[in-house]
Amino acid sequence: MTNATDGGRTSAYGALRESEELHRATLGNISDAVFLTDDAGTYVFICPNVDVIFGYDPDEVQTMLKISRLLGEGLFDLAELKANGEIRNVEREITTKSGEQRTVLIHVKCVAIRGATVLYTCRDITELKHAERDLSAARLELAHASRLALVSQLMASIVHEIVQPLTAIQTNSEVALHIVNSRGKNLRHEDLCEILSDISDLSDGVTRIVSQLRGLIGKHKSLDLRTIDMNRAVRDVMRLIHTDALRRGVTIHADLATSLPTVRADRISLHQVILNLIVNAMDATDHNPMKERLVIVRTRSSDDIVELEVSDTGSGISADHRTKLFEVFFTTKTEGVGLGLAIARSIAEAHGGRIWAEERSGPGATFRLTLPLQHEPVAT
Ligand SMILES: Nc1ncnc2c1ncn2[C@@H]1O[C@H](COP(=O)(O)OP(=O)(O)O)[C@@H](O)[C@H]1O
Ligand SMILES: [Mg+2]
Repeated sequence: MTNATDGGRTSAYGALRESEELHRATLGNISDAVFLTDDAGTYVFICPNVDVIFGYDPDEVQTMLKISRLLGEGLFDLAELKANGEIRNVEREITTKSGEQRTVLIHVKCVAIRGATVLYTCRDITELKHAERDLSAARLELAHASRLALVSQLMASIVHEIVQPLTAIQTNSEVALHIVNSRGKNLRHEDLCEILSDISDLSDGVTRIVSQLRGLIGKHKSLDLRTIDMNRAVRDVMRLIHTDALRRGVTIHADLATSLPTVRADRISLHQVILNLIVNAMDATDHNPMKERLVIVRTRSSDDIVELEVSDTGSGISADHRTKLFEVFFTTKTEGVGLGLAIARSIAEAHGGRIWAEERSGPGATFRLTLPLQHEPVAT
């Protein structure tokens, strides 16, 4: 019984000694500096490795008497410390014995050890701070560089997307001038009106392209939703690109539903989607022999949607590209910008519709746009 008690006491002492050794070894080997003071900041304990951060050895620190000499005045509010039990993460700039500036992160805690009431743990975070600073500088630089890249890509795209309608405006104006000059009295009022209205549509288009681009980079402008006949929109666009198609030797065949329910859509935006799809289809047939450059535009409807299909006999889409088609700036063309389909999708989605490239086994490609039917008020 006695033996057992003695044995227990011995092992308890052993454990205590081991624990003290463990503490000493730990304290001596960590790079954090630890101090104990009373409420007035007078040292009760100074860790042996204080020099690692501060450059002073423990005796030198002891002669300073108060911890404020080392960490500066007003480190924390004593009442707040007593109320909370601890204050974490106080950052301080300190000067080491050699005059070096260091940043330390200080954790203060209420204790009751050998007359000491406050425990300070100081960690040197100078390197961390430098790394953080470098990192945020690098991030800023990167953000700046990628913004610049984005801006220049956008500039290129604005130029590209605008030059096409501008060229058409110019051609149409020249034709109008020619008609006015050459026909004199035989001038047909309707001919001129048609050309002028095309010019007006094209310039509207330019304005819309700019605001679509703005829309892509965050600012949203509301759509001008009206009752639209998809067949009419297709015919309008086909008229706009008729000359271009002739020049490129592409036949555009329209296979339009005989009667089509209306949709609610922004006319110019819808024109833009149809135009983008047809121009892409024409581009895809560029390397075909003249007789095989065919684009077919179809419309149809079901119970709840109107569908537009644009297919071509062109190069087709590889499985690899299929997933990227609608990404901003994805292009396989030397003169391409890769915004057409991205814009088309954002327009389709803004109308509650969808646009996608069909899986196809044969040559060429097929794109589909679906828009929800306009809900007519039910007559009572
Ligand atoms: N009808 C099509 N046939 C084959 N590939 C197409 C077709 N339409 C689009 N693509 C592919 O999708 C890419 C992105 O199209 P788009 O967003 O309009 O940009 P861009 O026409 O400027 O390249 C094209 O570069 C092309 O690789
Ligand atoms: Mg395109």
